[in-house]
Amino acid sequence: MALHHEAGSASPATEDVGANVVREASRRRTFAVISHPDAGKSTLTEALALHAHVIEEAGATHGKSNRRSTVSDWMQMEQERGISISSAALQFTYRDTVFNLLDTPGHADFSEDTYRVLAAVDCAVMLVDAAKGLETQTLKLFDVCRRRGLPVITVINKWDRPGKDALELIDEVQQRTGRVPVPLNWPVGLSGDFRGTLDPRTRTYTRYRRVSAGAAVAEADVLAPGEAAALEGETWTEALETAELVAEGNGEFDAEAFLAAQATPVLFAAAALNFGVATLLDVLVDLAPPAGARLDADGAPRPVGAPFSGFVFKLQAGMDRAHRDHVAFLRVCSGVFHRGMVLTHAATGKPFATKYAHHVFGRDRETVETAFPGDVVGLVNASALRAGDSVYVGGPVVFPPIPHFSPEHFQVARAVDAGRAKQFRRGIVQLEHEGVIQVLRSETRGDQAPVLAAVGPMQFEVVADRMAREFGAQVRLEPLPYTLARRVLAPDPEVLNRIPGTEVLRRAGGEPIAVFTDKWKLGRVATHAPEVTLEPIGGTLD
Ligand code: G4P
Repeated sequence: MALHHEAGSASPATEDVGANVVREASRRRTFAVISHPDAGKSTLTEALALHAHVIEEAGATHGKSNRRSTVSDWMQMEQERGISISSAALQFTYRDTVFNLLDTPGHADFSEDTYRVLAAVDCAVMLVDAAKGLETQTLKLFDVCRRRGLPVITVINKWDRPGKDALELIDEVQQRTGRVPVPLNWPVGLSGDFRGTLDPRTRTYTRYRRVSAGAAVAEADVLAPGEAAALEGETWTEALETAELVAEGNGEFDAEAFLAAQATPVLFAAAALNFGVATLLDVLVDLAPPAGARLDADGAPRPVGAPFSGFVFKLQAGMDRAHRDHVAFLRVCSGVFHRGMVLTHAATGKPFATKYAHHVFGRDRETVETAFPGDVVGLVNASALRAGDSVYVGGPVVFPPIPHFSPEHFQVARAVDAGRAKQFRRGIVQLEHEGVIQVLRSETRGDQAPVLAAVGPMQFEVVADRMAREFGAQVRLEPLPYTLARRVLAPDPEVLNRIPGTEVLRRAGGEPIAVFTDKWKLGRVATHAPEVTLEPIGGTLD
């Protein structure tokens, strides 16, 4: 499978490099598809790739029951469970626009990974299951996007199945996300009877023709309003009236409100049948923001035409069993990346050679020679790089750190075999650096019994699995009763240890984190230690 359909066309030697970079950046759309599990993320990813002709036939990989090797699954555990744990990027070209679709894990337990991916994209596509509406993870993800000021395109999926009423879904988005939903197409036919879509601006009717189970691009006829009315009768009139009602209430699409994360364009689709997928691609080309200047840690914009810079949003080890490699996924922020160039690692000031640079998606990888702002490069054997690290050429630039998600599950890890203490320590540090798990320590507990802190309990399984397989250190995990964590701002954070059901631990850099069994214990801090200030952890949602 070709992962990388178009490296930039111009040769830097013959063209004005700066102008070329700006042009290439403006062709980039870097986005992620996010959703509550099962809303159809893998199906849509494959449908998008199919439309862009990256893969010939998507039908064979649909559904978890017979999924052999979808483009986004690769790890042993994911295959067994049919979930997606890793994140990488798929690049494809459509209408002369270069898309970078960043993969996000399908399981809610890996929302920390999703958070990191959202730090690297310019826009998100939020999938909603038409029968379920907004689910827990949908709302959490909307909240994360709000915090990042990220534009969101909402796609109401599975319209071919009986589900909620379209107006009810629009209302739900309006009430619960804080964004004004602006439908860009409107379904003709109730959920379960998806005949086609109405374009509220032109009043034309895109009538879908069913092809076998999404194996090929959906065929559609575009009909004038008169023809649509003659063909669909009442169903058409109803769609038209309802769409007008929504337009009266919520107004026309407003690019500024979309980019400012105040409005969300809405599309109705059935990814499994490829209905609405081409429309989504067109919306991404026409409305989604191109790769633009990104703010550095001081809030200053780094123009895309500036010398090369980027940041690591994700680390992955053990992708290639044969080589036990570490891949650092880098989002290019400015300038041109050329394979072989020497970058400066902002955290250490040390040079970093980029001999091995790849596009990675699923099990496939391809060597990258050139990359532009918005692109993702997988740097192989990049064990010195950490998630959130910046790299640059020329004058230094540091991008904002990627915040942690607030952990809700805590377990003490110990080596089963005390003789493998060294491997145990090395493995824990490596997994901590990769962001697989958060690691909290205290002098009382010691280095051989760190506390692992996770957003979802499945992260512990990944740790146990990788510790045994990659580091030869089997671990024993003991659950702790804590459910909440806060950053502590106080000269003597350890005073909190006096409150029962509370413990103060530290991150590797020394930052004190207090953990609590429940919110009542947290509430006691105000009376028992009023001098201590607690702060939510970056991405906290509680
Ligand atoms: P996820 O990555 O978000 O977890 O979802 P995934 O794509 O795996 O889709 C979850 C289920 O929903 C799959 O069914 C998939 O076929 C189905 N699905 C996705 N999009 C649509 C759609 O537009 N219409 C309909 N009717 N179904 C859709 P499954 O039960 O896991 O497998 P199977 O039924 O395909 O065997």
